[in-house]
Amino acid sequence: MANQKDVLSLRGVGRKLITGFPTNSLVDDSYVFGRDKEKEAIINSLLSDDARHCKIGVVAIVGMGGVGMTTLAQLAYNDCAVDNFFDIKSWVCVSQEFDICRITKTVVETISPGILDIKDLNLLQVKLNETLKGKKFLIVLDDVWNENYDNWDSLRKPFSSGAQGSKIIVTTRNEGAASMMQTTPTRHLKQLSGNDSWLLFVKHALDNRDSEAYPNLEAVGRQIVKK
Ligand SMILES: Nc1ncnc2c1ncn2[C@@H]1O[C@H](COP(=O)(O)OP(=O)(O)OP(=O)(O)O)[C@@H](O)[C@H]1O
Ligand SMILES: [Mg+2]
Repeated sequence: MANQKDVLSLRGVGRKLITGFPTNSLVDDSYVFGRDKEKEAIINSLLSDDARHCKIGVVAIVGMGGVGMTTLAQLAYNDCAVDNFFDIKSWVCVSQEFDICRITKTVVETISPGILDIKDLNLLQVKLNETLKGKKFLIVLDDVWNENYDNWDSLRKPFSSGAQGSKIIVTTRNEGAASMMQTTPTRHLKQLSGNDSWLLFVKHALDNRDSEAYPNLEAVGRQIVKK
């Protein structure tokens, strides 16, 4: 493949390009199919305080790329009960480069908008530590690839001032990253059921029109969904 790459003049596909555009916390749940049980389980673990041995609980959602980890995190993040339970919420799209300064800055900016010009990591971390003091927070670290313990250890230092019961949701394709960060058992996300996959497919392929109006397309559509 390396040789063929040169023949085809393919070069320089940077690692950062692979994951596409940044995610955000917004989701239109009327277009999300299935995931009721998974959503309930995540919310229960966010609202519970079963990780008493550690003040800040880390819940990791792991699965293959595209299976819906970010979507599930969005559903939990926007749930009313979750909203009422936490004092502070922040969503960070982490992606492949685990830039501690950028991640910290994003959290600080969501919580106290207006402190835009701090660039020094130490100052940012001190600010974050102060802002989180005594507050029950929920932070989503979406699409984490980092397996380096020192990076994670450095990032999480300011979080320790948060109140008992604060939570961090991590979504990752990487089992190693999840096991390093989590404080509760990994939540492995499986594929959607056949029926939910079909509904999702129809939404995109037929723009939500009634699939029964296209009997000639249904058979091939179902085969595509199965794949
Ligand atoms: N249950 C669902 N119903 C409808 N659309 C969904 C569902 N799950 C995922 N999607 C859609 O599929 C796409 C991929 O989902 P998502 O971004 O959540 O995957 P992911 O597991 O986070 O993948 P990655 O590893 O690339 O971050 C998105 O466009 C999302 O809106
Ligand atoms: Mg994702």
